[in-house]
Amino acid sequence: MTTWFASPADAVDRLGTAGYLADRATATTAFLAGSLEKPLLVEGPAGVGKTELAKAVARATGAELVRLQCYEGLDEARALYEWNYKKQLLRIQASGEQEWDATHDDIFTDEFLLTRPLLTAIRREEPTVLLIDEVDKTDVEVEGLLLEVLSDFQVTIPELGTVTAVRRPFVVLTSNATRELSEAVKRRCLFLHLDYPDAEREREIVSSQVPELEDRLAEQLVAMVGRLRELELKKAPSIAESVDWARTLVALEIRDLDDKAVDDTLGVVLKHASDTDRAVRELRLRK
Ligand SMILES: Nc1ncnc2c1ncn2[C@@H]1O[C@H](COP(=O)(O)OP(=O)(O)OP(=O)(O)O)[C@@H](O)[C@H]1O
Ligand SMILES: [Mg+2]
Repeated sequence: MTTWFASPADAVDRLGTAGYLADRATATTAFLAGSLEKPLLVEGPAGVGKTELAKAVARATGAELVRLQCYEGLDEARALYEWNYKKQLLRIQASGEQEWDATHDDIFTDEFLLTRPLLTAIRREEPTVLLIDEVDKTDVEVEGLLLEVLSDFQVTIPELGTVTAVRRPFVVLTSNATRELSEAVKRRCLFLHLDYPDAEREREIVSSQVPELEDRLAEQLVAMVGRLRELELKKAPSIAESVDWARTLVALEIRDLDDKAVDDTLGVVLKHASDTDRAVRELRLRK
């Protein structure tokens, strides 16, 4: 059996070394997902570190990341496996007089199988983190596909039989909760709700990714992002935007985040014209 993390504290340490600053709840859930060998469903708004958590688990444990990016219209052939029809056809043509039964046995073998992320992750013998990203973007039918993988860590290929994981991958599913996932999927997973971090953690994240940023400026930036999140915006700034903002301030050699500096750089943080208008209006009002 693989041990992913020895304890929640070990998860904090090793994720931290991998550049991911996890709070207690995140570290505990990551530890449990590894030790119970249960998939981890991470839900929350955009840009709070859901995808990055899976990547960080892979970096921290030296596992390889296998990623299934979900989208509308994703199907079995893209998620699980697909037969290599062209190659099969060539074999059929080349087999000439051979009996059909023999040819059939020939062309439904591993050689003609194109494995996609779910099957790849199940078959790998080395430690693997399987990231099923943005699972709420798929159609509900894909959840049916996922169930076999998530509950039994196996995949059934009618012509070949059932492939069972030799070594269970560490599975992370992420969702923006644009729709409810089925109860069946949820039941098989541990659940983690990620939200915007508190000011102190956000400052740590920003400082660790943009070390050139002065501490005082980092504090100003995080406070301002916090104020922006309190406004009713179409799209509140995420951690990713805080980090971008920090890089921007460094690039422009801005030393103080005063009104003018905010005005000049707001486009890095807010991505809707109406949000910018509202922020300018309300932040001025509050002075
Ligand atoms: N705890 C953290 N420690 C370090 N960096 C973090 C942390 N959380 C978020 N980040 C940073 O924020 C960025 C955005 O995170 P990520 O891409 O994982 O967001 P997400 O939640 O998957 O968003 P989306 O729903 O848009 O896909 C990451 O590239 C990373 O730099
Ligand atoms: Mg993501």
